[in-house]
Amino acid sequence: MDDHVTLTYQGKSYRLPVIVGTENERGIDILRLRTDTGFITLDPGFANTGACLSSITYMDGEKGILRYRGIPVEELAENSTFKETAYLLINGRLPSEDELRRFSIMLNDHSLVHEDMKTFYQNFPRASHPMGILSSMVNALRSFYPELQATEEEINFTVTRLLAKVRTMAAMSYKISRGHTVVYPRPDLAYSENFLNMMFNTPVKPYEFVREVVRALEVFWILHADHEQNCSTTAVRVVGSGRVNLYAAISAGMSALWGPLHGGANQAVIEMLSEIHRMDGDYRKAIERAKDKADPFRLMGFGHRVYKTYDPRAKIMKRMCDDLLKKLQINDPLLDIAKALEETAMNDAFFRENNLYPNVDFYSGIVLRAIGIPTNMFTVMFAIGRLPGWIAQWKESMDDPQWRISRPRQIYIGPTETHYVPMAERPRS
Ligand code: SDX
Repeated sequence: MDDHVTLTYQGKSYRLPVIVGTENERGIDILRLRTDTGFITLDPGFANTGACLSSITYMDGEKGILRYRGIPVEELAENSTFKETAYLLINGRLPSEDELRRFSIMLNDHSLVHEDMKTFYQNFPRASHPMGILSSMVNALRSFYPELQATEEEINFTVTRLLAKVRTMAAMSYKISRGHTVVYPRPDLAYSENFLNMMFNTPVKPYEFVREVVRALEVFWILHADHEQNCSTTAVRVVGSGRVNLYAAISAGMSALWGPLHGGANQAVIEMLSEIHRMDGDYRKAIERAKDKADPFRLMGFGHRVYKTYDPRAKIMKRMCDDLLKKLQINDPLLDIAKALEETAMNDAFFRENNLYPNVDFYSGIVLRAIGIPTNMFTVMFAIGRLPGWIAQWKESMDDPQWRISRPRQIYIGPTETHYVPMAERPRS
């Protein structure tokens, strides 16, 4: 079907093709807009702009749907592991038993980090934020592993190496920042257990695994694994479009994720809830401040560019909070404050009218606190979870025949032509 729209301007009409996706999303193809009409479009923040055709993740913001390669995130959270979900996102299908076993062995074989990288860590100031350390260290991997990323095999090897090392690098930043001995990955432990052991095992007190804690970490990472063209994924795709190596593109994604409006929100939510707790739990003030247009305060963990209903990940995260804290017999006052905030906001016209619902970051920090992760590492945890998604999106962009170097246009509103004025002729200030 020759689906198209017609653009009419000053008596001239232009036909623009319409692209229809497998879920009936429609896009106006403006690939030839400037060539055929001389016009460009303007869309700060890209709220109305599709960057690419993608087969990785589908979101329906009105219905609260999230699927990885067609599989609902609820089913993956219930039945899958983070390793298997990473394989699904990157390879486009679930692995066979043998493929998963080989992937697991590769992840363990490459989970060590070059010993010389330790000196990098030791030279960061102790108070350095773990996200700044992690994005720097991921970029530094190119110096230690300069192999080309030309062939499919070299790319897959680099991808597996990065997935294997990111949790070791994250745990190292935690241990070294506390002056503790670095704990090495163990070949007998699965992905999440290895991370927990590297974080919390000490020479005087071996880490004791609790099945529910390991499962909560797996589900946490599954829920964060991809989210179509969000800010940090766009950074990975844009930086990758210059054909830089994968490590540099991922490091750019980590830097974008760090912001409090994006992945840094999980840390900001806990800081907000802790502040409310310090003010004897008076959460209504936060609600009033969020509604006050004159106040720059935002209710962190609320609102979303795509979801105009409850973030499906937040529903699972909230349930996980209840189950995990009950199992660990933890009574976290911040969870009570979060639930009271949510209930009040959900019954407030301002939040309903602005489609402001809890997003993935609203309850995730409470799960991480229960696991024992320090607050300043919350966004690092998000980054480890999102890494398979960033990699899958980067690979898809590299294989996309339409993908070119990202170079948007602009509408210039500055001074029209003027001329250089010699100093002697300038007004004296
Ligand atoms: C993530 O894109 C993704 O998929 C991201 C993510 C992923 O998995 O990659 O889902 C992860 O980043 C989740 C979002 C985490 N960030 C926060 O929780 C920070 C608080 N939320 C907001 O700052 C905001 O809601 C954003 C950044 C999430 C979305 O911003 P938008 O889409 O640009 O919406 P907006 O800022 O234009 O807000 C629309 C209106 C505004 O009112 P006006 O200024 O137009 O009058 O709603 C208001 C806002 O003031 N609003 C809020 C609010 N969020 C939006 N008011 C109070 N509290 C909030 N949290």
